[in-house]
Amino acid sequence: MIWLIGNKGMLGQGVEKLLIRKRLSYLASDKEVDITNYPILQEFTKNIELAWIINCAGYTDVDKAEKEIEKAFLINRDGVRNISKIATEKQAKLIHLSTDHVFNGENNTCLSYTEDDKTEPINLYGESKLAGEREIKENSKKCFIIRTAWLYGMGGKNFVSTMLKLFKEKEEIKVISDQWGSPTYTVDLAEGIIEIINNDSIKFGIYHFTNEGVTNWYEFAREIYRKSKKLGIIDSQKEVEIRGIETKEYPTPAQRPKCSWLSKEKIKRELNLDIRNWQDALTDFLSFLSLQRK
Ligand SMILES: NC(=O)c1ccc[n+]([C@@H]2O[C@H](COP(=O)([O-])OP(=O)(O)OC[C@H]3O[C@@H](n4cnc5c(N)ncnc54)[C@H](OP(=O)(O)O)[C@@H]3O)[C@@H](O)[C@H]2O)c1
Repeated sequence: MIWLIGNKGMLGQGVEKLLIRKRLSYLASDKEVDITNYPILQEFTKNIELAWIINCAGYTDVDKAEKEIEKAFLINRDGVRNISKIATEKQAKLIHLSTDHVFNGENNTCLSYTEDDKTEPINLYGESKLAGEREIKENSKKCFIIRTAWLYGMGGKNFVSTMLKLFKEKEEIKVISDQWGSPTYTVDLAEGIIEIINNDSIKFGIYHFTNEGVTNWYEFAREIYRKSKKLGIIDSQKEVEIRGIETKEYPTPAQRPKCSWLSKEKIKRELNLDIRNWQDALTDFLSFLSLQRK
């Protein structure tokens, strides 16, 4: 049996769709089975044999985490500790999601980060996620920690959905052009997760997964605009000017890593995952949206 935690979140919804499509036996939970409450987790899993736990739950509001520090750590550190203890008790393998925000992004040459590179978060969300990684390493041996970044897909607020909304409402939008990384389509990440389970992999450890290629938010926005116009998702007659701006022109409560390009060499080599480039994944997502609207 697989236990999917966080099935109402953006990635969790993508994973659940795939579990259903692949006819895998699973149980799912979200906020109603609070990961910060250990007895509740024990009760929920009582008398159930678990082979795998997939944890897609988390505190994910990067800016709010700067103020809601206790809450972020309660969910991303203590909640993750509880899950990893249950995994050990049940002898289940655990797949947990982490983030590019564990790095400081000061990679001047913008080389991609490997799993062995030094972690040094520059915001509290990143601190809380790194604390979660440490809890897992301490409490469970059979675990995959997958760091991802710039997630988008169905069923959640994300950069692509925000851009599509702004293209409809505005004549001009400003987008940051000096933060670099790789977008990740939830469907592609969900497929990677299910492949690890299907292969019954025991190559535990930390892995990076995003779509291939590197871009910045401004170029990503331009590609969303170009593709969504071509697919008829936005009005082909309406012109929106997209202007690139620097981070300092758009202050946010939490600092973001400037360059958080993640290397996928390890996950491709060790777990044999194929990863497509971010442009093809984006086309797929927007094509799906355009079909839905017809
Ligand atoms: N989104 C990104 O760009 C991104 C980038 C890198 C890494 N990640 C990581 O990828 C994972 C999935 O991200 P996502 O964007 O899919 O997250 P999401 O949409 O915010 O989903 C997280 C889910 O966890 C639930 N949750 C929160 N507290 C909980 C608790 N105490 N007990 C049980 N469930 C709880 C949330 O419920 P509520 O919504 O009701 O709070 C939500 O349904 C997270 O670990 C995140 O850190 C995300």
